[in-house]
Amino acid sequence: MPVPLNRRDFVRSGAAAAGLGLTARANGAPAVQSRASVPVVISSSNGNSYTHDGKETCVVRAFRLMTEGTDVLDALIEGVNIVERDPQDTSVGYGGLPNADGVVQLDSCCMHGPKKRAGGVAALEGVRIPSLVAKAVLEQTDHHLLVGAGAQTFARQLGFTVEDDLNTPESRRLWLEWKRRIDPEHFLDPEKRARAGADAGLAMVREGLIDGAHYFGTINCNGVNTRGEVCGVTTTSGLAWKIPGRVGDSPILGAGLYVDGQVGAAGSTGRGEANLFGLCSYLVVEQLRQGKSPKDAGMEALRRIKANTIETRLLDDRGQPRFQVSFYVVNRAGQFAGVSLFEGDYAVCTANGPETRPTEALLPGKANW
Ligand code: GLY
Repeated sequence: MPVPLNRRDFVRSGAAAAGLGLTARANGAPAVQSRASVPVVISSSNGNSYTHDGKETCVVRAFRLMTEGTDVLDALIEGVNIVERDPQDTSVGYGGLPNADGVVQLDSCCMHGPKKRAGGVAALEGVRIPSLVAKAVLEQTDHHLLVGAGAQTFARQLGFTVEDDLNTPESRRLWLEWKRRIDPEHFLDPEKRARAGADAGLAMVREGLIDGAHYFGTINCNGVNTRGEVCGVTTTSGLAWKIPGRVGDSPILGAGLYVDGQVGAAGSTGRGEANLFGLCSYLVVEQLRQGKSPKDAGMEALRRIKANTIETRLLDDRGQPRFQVSFYVVNRAGQFAGVSLFEGDYAVCTANGPETRPTEALLPGKANW
């Protein structure tokens, strides 16, 4: 099982002090010299859970590289690569839960605040680390988004390894279980079939076969260094058992991620359709621009999502959304917040080390899948 790193491990490793020019106080605790911005890396909670058999989680590696002087976006992407490569996270990269045809299709985007550049890929098959292909779109093309076969050809041309199948035995086992549950429904009309597919998937979450965070799962990771340079990246295998070709919020600029180098960054995990409808990461960054705190900016987006959720199929018996959406928000000064519709967690790494913290929730209790 993945094990979150704690603050003591981090400080003991010396990683926090490595690139910050920290001075030791008399009691041995590091003191940060005053800077324009307080460096921080914030992510969804899987950013402090998976190590892909190494020692560092995503936020620890990204923070260490960033504070050692690596470009912020390069550091964040090295961080999320750990989760993309780790088959234990069935929501991202290799071993991500596949679409309805059993094919793993990956989405990712990234934004570089200071350079004002962006890149993304959607419905990409065969490449374990879609965030690096998104970065190649940012760096090497005049475009912002490549999809499907075109994205895969682009990756192959640049020398990325393209594999036939990114399923692991575990992701294939869970897909077969889902398929078995909906087979009797295959001859229903399309609307009933879609509902049956969603109901079977959510039942697997309720029964504990799939972690709810992995059904809609994703990793978003944002950071700011001491110079106030802000970047972000989001990468995902998207909604489990989605219709082939479905693209969620993750690779869409303004939805799964938005960065404005003068203001801050916001990214999301959770039900992509709810976020796409309101381009909520853009909304969050615009709220930051108007002077709101990261928490208040994120809450505004969550209220918008709640107000836009009116279809009964998406509401539980309390009239609340039947899904989770979370935002990970950081402003240029290094203030940050993790917020969600319902109780959740997020990861953060500062000079004090990595932590997994509870999000600020708009609504009480847990998501009622
Ligand atoms: N937020 C991930 C997705 O909906 O695809």
